[in-house]
Amino acid sequence: MSASLGIGLIGLGTVGTGVVQLLREAPAAVRRRKASFEVRRVAVRDPAKARDVQLAAGVLSGDAEQVISDPAVQVVVELTGAPGAFGWIRQALQAGKHVVTANKAVIAEHGDELFDLAAEGDVDLLFEASVAGGIPIIRSLRNGLVANHVESLYGILNGTTNYILTRMARGEGDYAGILAQAQAAGYAEPDPAADVSGADAAAKLAILSRIAFHTRGTPADIYCEGIEGIEASDIEFARELGFAIKLLAIARQASGGRVEARVHPVMIPAESQLANIQDEFNAIEVVGSAVGTQVFSGAGAGRMPTASAVVSDLVELAERRRRGASTSIEDMILGEEAVGFADICGVEMRYFLRVLVEDRPGVLEQIARILAREGISIASVLQKERDLEGGAVPLVIVTHEARERAMQQAVGAIDALPMVTRGVRLIRMQEL
Ligand code: NDP
Ligand code: HSE
Repeated sequence: MSASLGIGLIGLGTVGTGVVQLLREAPAAVRRRKASFEVRRVAVRDPAKARDVQLAAGVLSGDAEQVISDPAVQVVVELTGAPGAFGWIRQALQAGKHVVTANKAVIAEHGDELFDLAAEGDVDLLFEASVAGGIPIIRSLRNGLVANHVESLYGILNGTTNYILTRMARGEGDYAGILAQAQAAGYAEPDPAADVSGADAAAKLAILSRIAFHTRGTPADIYCEGIEGIEASDIEFARELGFAIKLLAIARQASGGRVEARVHPVMIPAESQLANIQDEFNAIEVVGSAVGTQVFSGAGAGRMPTASAVVSDLVELAERRRRGASTSIEDMILGEEAVGFADICGVEMRYFLRVLVEDRPGVLEQIARILAREGISIASVLQKERDLEGGAVPLVIVTHEARERAMQQAVGAIDALPMVTRGVRLIRMQEL
């Protein structure tokens, strides 16, 4: 057995606790790789809090910098999601320490700087747990699918929102109650707005796009809409049409060598594989030029699945170190060949529109006229005799394929009609 790798952990919450537990269990597969670890330092926000794992005296502190500067720590494992995370990771790399993190926001936002730093210091920066929890999608894209040109990637990348949408579809409570359950289960971000707004999925998509398509860009470059506006009635309408609603993260090769990347709720056929990914589970459908379609699915959030990904990075690190290998992140550094994101206004798809209108003659005609003016053809119309608010009724329209730009213009014009009591809720539709 080789010498243990000294681990300094920043964060001992849902994921950090799972990592300590998994390292203690060290399954045979880890031992056979001669990887051995010792947790030498741990920093948390509140050292007085009761913990699910016991640590030796003197290991736990409230000071992340102490973890980074300890010479017995060779690998800093950042598992906080705290505002200081970027600074700690940068500091650790500058101090010549390897870093393993589950922090997608930091990798997506500051990847360029951090990968350069790691390369300069000949240390590693591994982040398997940052996307899709326990699914080894980063390793699969970087290694297993390296011989492919990736054509498209469709992902359910956020466990919390999938949990909410699944349970709303089963009628198991309202939005707020189900979100509270996801938080209690440890799936949600410290600020769950990052989950429900789509920002967490956009950060994950930025990371996957960087690997799959060599895009340079932060989550701010990705079109992003969350699930906050989805109502139980939308899920019901979708079901009547043979669809399910999922928050999808989509990246596809677009014209001019650019990549179309977007995160938003999507109606997908109820029988498709992604429509049947339930609760906190994630899935990624990748189409590669050589392998064709592959679907990766599994637990996308939660203590042990995420810890499994963190420990896989640690084992890779230990093995590389034992072999005397240098940093493994060259492929993450984008040079001149970095690809840009395309404007999604040019994308063509079908749309579901729900609008609350006064129940009187001529309303449908006016809406149809606006759509026709934008060259948008209606596939079906559904108007239920539901008197919701003072005589207003929901009108549902499904269109044939239309361009996003035209649809945005039509939505603006429909929202301005005097008989529209509540503006358009637009859900994009995607055949998979
Ligand atoms: P938790 O909120 O459960 O734990 C956060 C930990 O960070 C706690 O131990 C907390 O200390 C510690 N912490 C917070 N601020 C500081 C600080 N200033 N100094 C030192 N320690 C601090 O978060 P998770 O474990 O759920 O998530 C951790 C990271 O993993 C995040 O980046 C998240 O996005 C990512 N992730 C989480 C997944 C999940 O399913 N939960 C899945 C994939 C990635 P204390 O215990 O004292 O409060
Ligand atoms: N909050 C994240 C989610 C954790 O729900 O998917 C996993 O990255």
